[in-house]
Amino acid sequence: MIRNNKKIIIRQASKNDARVLVDYLNIIGGESNFLTFGAGEFGISIEEEESFIEKVLKKENDLFIVAEIDGEIIGSLNFSGGLRERTAHVGEFGMSVLKKYWGNGIGEELIKYLINWSKDSGIIRKINLRVRTDNERGIYLYKKLGFLEEGLLRRDFVINDKFYDSLLMGLCID
Ligand SMILES: CC(C)(COP(=O)(O)OP(=O)(O)OC[C@H]1O[C@@H](n2cnc3c(N)ncnc32)[C@H](O)[C@@H]1OP(=O)(O)O)[C@@H](O)C(=O)NCCC(=O)NCCS
Repeated sequence: MIRNNKKIIIRQASKNDARVLVDYLNIIGGESNFLTFGAGEFGISIEEEESFIEKVLKKENDLFIVAEIDGEIIGSLNFSGGLRERTAHVGEFGMSVLKKYWGNGIGEELIKYLINWSKDSGIIRKINLRVRTDNERGIYLYKKLGFLEEGLLRRDFVINDKFYDSLLMGLCID
């Protein structure tokens, strides 16, 4: 994918990305209030992140991908499938893009990668997500890619003593 003459690569995360990913996640936590952590609140060490990436790579219904420009990680998406036979077909994902790159179609490419991977996986039959009800950009993007609203979780987030609701959305993989 090319944007503004820059090549954007979407690829699976590897153990070597752990240090850069921890830095990235601590930054994006502070760029919006739509994630479950704020600036510097990611709270995972580099070693823990390495183990997490290794676990994802071994588990056939997990996916961890990054978007990269000129060797810099500027976006990521993590999908985690159920652990037991009865829930292995379904999972939930979270994602982010560095703020200065918002609106360039990078979020869309990350989700399309997830959808194609799910179709090819032979296991995944449903993708779930939750998104704050006031995250207009996120909700627009998910609807554009076919996700449907499935429910509402009240008081799902609390930030500075204020509660926020989340929308549950899902996409069936046939
Ligand atoms: C949500 C997020 C991942 C989207 O990434 P992105 O790279 O900006 O996404 P894209 O550029 O592919 O798509 C964004 C779309 O939203 C549209 N958009 C922008 N502002 C909008 C708004 N206020 N209301 C509705 N749509 C909006 C854009 O026009 C674009 O659509 P288009 O390509 O059809 O024109 C990114 O904004 C982000 O990291 N946000 C903070 C963390 C977050 O919210 N993560 C998701 C938690 S569920």
